[in-house]
Amino acid sequence: MKALVLSGGSGTRLRPFSHSMPKQLVPVANRPILGHVIDSIRELGVTSVAVVVGDRSEEIRAALGDGSSHGVDITYIRQEAPLGLAHCVRIARRFLGDDDFVMYLGDNLLSGGLTEIADRFRADRGDAHLAVRKVDDPHRFGVAEVDSEGRVLRLVEKPEHPVSDLAVVGVYFLTAAVHEAVDAITPSGRGELEITDAIQWLVDRGGDVRASVYQGFWRDTGQVSDVLDCNRELLAGLTPRILGAVDPDSRITGPVVVGESARVTRSRLSGPVVIGAGATVSDSVVGPYTSVGDGCVLDRAGVEDSIVLEGSAVRGVRGVHGSVIGRRASVTEASGTDRRILFIGDDSKVEIHG
Ligand code: DAU
Repeated sequence: MKALVLSGGSGTRLRPFSHSMPKQLVPVANRPILGHVIDSIRELGVTSVAVVVGDRSEEIRAALGDGSSHGVDITYIRQEAPLGLAHCVRIARRFLGDDDFVMYLGDNLLSGGLTEIADRFRADRGDAHLAVRKVDDPHRFGVAEVDSEGRVLRLVEKPEHPVSDLAVVGVYFLTAAVHEAVDAITPSGRGELEITDAIQWLVDRGGDVRASVYQGFWRDTGQVSDVLDCNRELLAGLTPRILGAVDPDSRITGPVVVGESARVTRSRLSGPVVIGAGATVSDSVVGPYTSVGDGCVLDRAGVEDSIVLEGSAVRGVRGVHGSVIGRRASVTEASGTDRRILFIGDDSKVEIHG
């Protein structure tokens, strides 16, 4: 089996982050989402991987390289414009050949439980096997109607009036049968070649398309709240490791990672917390569920349930929680008597109480 990872697209809902980095590279537990995706593919025993990239291809190549650090072999396929998930399958035809493949959306994060579905796909040898999951807001997803034996009867992309509450998870197990389907369909109302339409095409022609309920953790990281959910989930499984220096006046409880050459002084770290390489944390209270990127500075800060991206600083501000702070940002206490001075970049979102 091969893997096709989709990492093109524009990621408008994750602005302002997606202005300066592709959404698939937003870090969760201090590693890009795409790194977690590649690891998940490796766990399925798949090592031949193609990554579809769009106009942010340089950053994605810089992050993943040739895949050797993840134990896989990566080929990059350039998509000139985000013309749809089925379009990605079309342009990957030469790489995929007639092999079975797992198509994995590069902004989806799953933890555990995928191997069982891959095994069922390998055992059943149908035309396609989907992972589905009950959700409260099916209109945000592809929605599947499935019979009592797990056969897919109907698929609709982001329906206004969903016929079921089973969302299609962004991991698809496909066979070479899909190639005829992606060639046959035409663009949807939003101008994209939809993979849901291609799979529906197979169903309409009597294809054997099945679905299994995915039981593990899953988020489509379209919104900042999803990214924070992922951060909590991955930090919950953190293996503690102190590589940097922690002074005797600091207190560590719960699982904490302190990266190489990081320095923690007179601070309290309540795990799960990860402090990136070269970061300095002084007179601060950090965690739980907090990822602090490489080279960050926290001084007299209080940060909880948050992600602070690399190179950022929080000085003299306590009570930061449920927040994502972008790269090289600076959050400081105001000097003088002015009550609030904000210097906020384009497309930012700031929520302040009181
Ligand atoms: O997350 C699951 C959902 O993903 C499914 O339930 C939907 O059926 C499926 O269409 C998809 O919906 P999204 O609206 O979330 O897809 P999005 O446009 O965010 O694209 C998913 C990934 O694929 C993302 O990493 C960007 C990449 N992509 C997208 C398009 C449209 C490409 O590489 N090329 C493209 O042309």
